[in-house]
Amino acid sequence: MKRLKVDLGDRSYPILIADGPLQNVGVLMRRYSPASKVCIVTNTTVRRLYADVCVTSLQNAGFKVSIVALPDGERYKTLRGMDRIYDGLIRAGLDRSDAVLALGGGVTGDMAGFAAATYMRGINFVQFPTTLLAQVDSSVGGKTGVDHPGGKNIVGAFYQPKLVVCDLSTLSSLPQREYRCGLAEVLKYGVIKSATFFSYLEKSGREILDRKQGALEKIVAESCRLKAAVVVEDERESGIRAILNYGHTFGHGIETAMNFRTIKHGEAVAIGMVMAAHLSYLLGLASAQSAVRVENLVSSYGLPTKLPRGLSPAKVMAGMEHDKKIIGGKWRFVVFDKIGHALVQGGLTRKEIAAVIR
Ligand code: NAD
Ligand code: GLY
Repeated sequence: MKRLKVDLGDRSYPILIADGPLQNVGVLMRRYSPASKVCIVTNTTVRRLYADVCVTSLQNAGFKVSIVALPDGERYKTLRGMDRIYDGLIRAGLDRSDAVLALGGGVTGDMAGFAAATYMRGINFVQFPTTLLAQVDSSVGGKTGVDHPGGKNIVGAFYQPKLVVCDLSTLSSLPQREYRCGLAEVLKYGVIKSATFFSYLEKSGREILDRKQGALEKIVAESCRLKAAVVVEDERESGIRAILNYGHTFGHGIETAMNFRTIKHGEAVAIGMVMAAHLSYLLGLASAQSAVRVENLVSSYGLPTKLPRGLSPAKVMAGMEHDKKIIGGKWRFVVFDKIGHALVQGGLTRKEIAAVIR
């Protein structure tokens, strides 16, 4: 088992990465949490696949277990959706010493984390991510929350988990489209933080797309390590953490323009990363060659690099104006000056941004 640490003083926590720890989740939780009751927050899809093993393991370790299974989908990631979780926590009689365990993808993790942050003003929280996106991104770093018609993830809290357990074997049931969406975030870490990892990703497409065990362990561990380093430096995103949003402002604009339907988050981010690469070149920061390398890498993983047919750039621009990261008329974008080194660039004009939306 690989073990990383997110070093945040008294809010530090480990990330455990291995093949098959779901069977031992009870024992792992005993080690890291004093809870007597655990509420598993999941969705109907993941419940069918993994809840039984999780419940048995927790019960064998002496926990009293309850389950809240949310309907599957980003459209339920709302304040209304949160009520089901609060109802479940109250029904099961959880108190402050007990724990919420998020078993699922980023939607489940964000909602369960927000519930843990707010129920009784904060109870223990454990992330058990089952999508690649959640293992490499959303389960680490403490961003929790829900969407609102006024913006994606606009209501939420920073709330760190006590433990993150990534079971690589759960990725075997993930549809290839979802797996690719997670890869978009993996590629992001190469662009913003590690030229070495970027080169590895350029060379290892086949093993990664085939989900070979060694490749999975490498991409999950390296992504978590790179993300944790940024989070430790700037937990509440007052500066450098913003680089983790590379490609995301464009991506959120695309998702908003498409009403969060048809396109998946990772696909929108993939297109956004290519736009941000072209912006980096247009601003005279990055070479044309590195912008092309980013586009080629994204495309080599079967991810989209351009707006879906029929989606107008003006609509995407309007979608971006809803983004909380650019309120107050300030257009700030994450760009890079070389592969492996991102920065936040302010004072950009609408014209510069519009030029790369295509
Ligand atoms: P998701 O949670 O909707 O999961 C994608 C799909 O995969 C769902 O249908 C789910 O039921 C299914 N699924 C989950 N695990 C499975 C498995 N092992 N086998 C088969 N199917 C499985 O979406 P996601 O892509 O995991 O996460 C996207 C969400 O994460 C967005 O809401 C986004 O805003 C959020 N996010 C948060 C952060 C953060 O820092 N908190 C970072 C990135 C993304
Ligand atoms: N996914 C962006 C962040 O965690 O900051």
